[in-house]
Amino acid sequence: MASIGIFYGSSSGVTKAVAERLAELLDVEDFNVFNMEEDFTDFDDMFAFDILLFGCSTWGSGEVQNDWRDPLLDLDNDKPSFAGKTIALFGAGDFKAHGEQFVSALGILHDKFKARGATLVGGFPTEGYTYKYSFAERDGKFVGLPFDEVNEADKTEERLQRWVAILQEELALAEA
Ligand SMILES: Cc1cc2nc3c(=O)[nH]c(=O)nc-3n(C[C@H](O)[C@H](O)[C@H](O)COP(=O)(O)O)c2cc1C
Repeated sequence: MASIGIFYGSSSGVTKAVAERLAELLDVEDFNVFNMEEDFTDFDDMFAFDILLFGCSTWGSGEVQNDWRDPLLDLDNDKPSFAGKTIALFGAGDFKAHGEQFVSALGILHDKFKARGATLVGGFPTEGYTYKYSFAERDGKFVGLPFDEVNEADKTEERLQRWVAILQEELALAEA
């Protein structure tokens, strides 16, 4: 059975809460949920899993959450191979205050890990979202699951459930 690890960076706890809910929905044990700030040492932590769920909120103007910065620099410098790894992305944003770069961090993670050979799954429809621009939008879809607890907290659970169903289909977890 494929193993799943969840790694998240979250400054005010929004992406953290979703990471924990995802762990519940996908039966991922607590010790396989990593806060990038406290629990992440190096890429070997990630290589222990077949399937990686990466959570990252967007800060600055379209930048990754702080705790992902150094790992992404290491990724660029050390160029570890993620070939054979399947990665799905999720992250918080704020479409009203930051709709010009809505959840753009997901696009950054997508490109960086794809360049290292990973297979990215878990794209999500843009229907139902409002924003001006997102670096996470590719070919009319988001590269992962966006949620907005600032303006649309009531939609998060439904989006999560829908994303989990997409993931289960794409990863054939139901049969595993
Ligand atoms: C200074 C600042 C900059 C932000 N920049 C963005 C942004 O560029 N794009 C976006 O979608 N959200 C942006 N946000 C919104 C955060 O992503 C949002 O508050 C999110 O819920 C934080 O999630 P976290 O607690 O998991 O870090 C920004 C928020 C602040 C306070």
